Amino acid sequence: MSYFKHVFAKKLTKYILANQEVPDVKHVVAQIAQLIRIQPVKKDATRVSQYFLELSSLSKCLNGKLPNLDQLQSEDNIPIKVYNDMVHWEVEPSKFTQKVLEEIRSNKENYGYTDEARGVRECVCVEYSSPNVAKPFHMGHLRSTIIGNVLSNFYEAAGHDVKRINWIGDWGTQFGLLSLGLMRFGDINLLRQDPLLELFNVYVKINQAVKSECGDSPETTSQTHKEGVALFTQLEEGDDHMRTVWKMVKELSINELNKIYQRLGVHFTHTMAESDYHGKTQLVLQLLDQANLLQYDSKGVGYVKMDIQDIGQASVVKSDGSSLYLTRDIASALERQDQFSFDRVHYVVEQGQRAHFIKLVNILKQLGVPWASRPIGDIHVPFGRVKGMSTRQGNVVFLRDVLDEARTRVLKLMETKSTTRVTEDLETTADIIGVTSIVLQDLKLLRTKDYTFSWEVMLNLKSDSGVFVQYCHARLCSMLANCGVALTEDVDTALLVNDVALLQVVLHLASYPDVFEKSLISLEPHHVVKYMFKLCHLVNVAYSLFPVKGQVTELAQARLKVFECSRQVLANSLTLLGLTPLRQI
Ligand code: ARG
Repeated sequence: MSYFKHVFAKKLTKYILANQEVPDVKHVVAQIAQLIRIQPVKKDATRVSQYFLELSSLSKCLNGKLPNLDQLQSEDNIPIKVYNDMVHWEVEPSKFTQKVLEEIRSNKENYGYTDEARGVRECVCVEYSSPNVAKPFHMGHLRSTIIGNVLSNFYEAAGHDVKRINWIGDWGTQFGLLSLGLMRFGDINLLRQDPLLELFNVYVKINQAVKSECGDSPETTSQTHKEGVALFTQLEEGDDHMRTVWKMVKELSINELNKIYQRLGVHFTHTMAESDYHGKTQLVLQLLDQANLLQYDSKGVGYVKMDIQDIGQASVVKSDGSSLYLTRDIASALERQDQFSFDRVHYVVEQGQRAHFIKLVNILKQLGVPWASRPIGDIHVPFGRVKGMSTRQGNVVFLRDVLDEARTRVLKLMETKSTTRVTEDLETTADIIGVTSIVLQDLKLLRTKDYTFSWEVMLNLKSDSGVFVQYCHARLCSMLANCGVALTEDVDTALLVNDVALLQVVLHLASYPDVFEKSLISLEPHHVVKYMFKLCHLVNVAYSLFPVKGQVTELAQARLKVFECSRQVLANSLTLLGLTPLRQI
């Protein structure tokens, strides 16, 4: 629990205890719950008041007056007032500072992480990345990879059991088309040299062929498309040659993907493939039939009727009996549920697939899957588009080229900085800064917002970027190593009461647990990112106004502790976002 909540809860405990005559304790407790952002589900009076009673023994160091109920409604009532006017501290600044620093020093890399809102350890599934092997890995997949990885980190940090699933799209008509493309245009040497590029070129050429044949009519009218579909049918029927091609393409693609995941610091606990589920169509159909959900149209297409506005029927089987994207998703969701009994499931997938997930969730709900009763926004976690993305190679964007270019640009930037100290492994350092910059640019806004990709913004040394944050962390490390005093636990925080900028840092450090919780509950990593940027700005100001070096030892040690705690929290937030905090740049 953050120290803010701690102080606040103490005041309220006292308030409740002192006001036995309060006519509607339940109401007061509900308000408190709201104020300290306890989730509505847990807003039952007994739990919350019990929680406060447990805290009542800690009410000694409180010297503020008890607030009245009107005051309680404003968040300003928490010691935040210190931002505007020191006089309004509701706890003594030195005690507050001492408590906060102690909490950070004793929890270290775990500082900030609890999930009081849920209270119990849940089994959570986060599905992310999920690229297709027959189509290029696009920015949507990158966003899904970054956001999904971070959300999984959030849950893990809060102590939940997370299954991180990558659901590889290795099945479907596109695969038939790609195989046809390889036969018509593929070059085995190029494929060996640079599989991603060659697969992409073939993909583009075969889709151009389809387009030129069908014009504005549906693509199914194109001869090339028909041939592609026929090849896919052969694959579905287990044709040896097609299976060999399919396996090769899949392996090549997955090897390339793994390199990217490694560079991004992303991992999965389970990698599953759509192809493993096409054979389970019959099982799904049986279940749907037993639940009286399955119907057939005049062409023999099996579907489930959806009574949802603007959502058409949900087709689950083609007239020739073969599976569909939705059917494979149903089969996999049911199997996963059997295996893991999830309490919560998140599919981190682009906004364009909303209708698909509405259908999936609706069907799963009717089949009795418990988590499927949650709101769709909690299950399908969408995100906005990235605009204006290009690399020096041109408009076709390969993720590895983006990562390479980020690294090159960072290396240039490092060359121009006189403070650069790294001499070995420059490339690795530059790669880490490049990845940090890409990831933070991606997580900076609310996830559903579109953003414009910009190298300039992303590599801005002075403000709100990955480079900015990494430099701040490295500067703190070097300051701590070279300030001339040793870090001690026993410091006199009373010496800091006039170092306003440092106290602002402390206040900010105290709010990290709340920011984390807010990000976790709303599935919005941007709260943590904004928090981190602000921490760096506050630290930079405090650092220039209240140095450590050259001060009387006691004062230097008290300040040093604040800076070490800042470094710790900055490192915690970077790690939480899946990034590596750099100690030297
Ligand atoms: N492979 C799909 C695509 O790239 C995304 C898969 C999303 N996940 C799912 N369970 N349907 O479009």
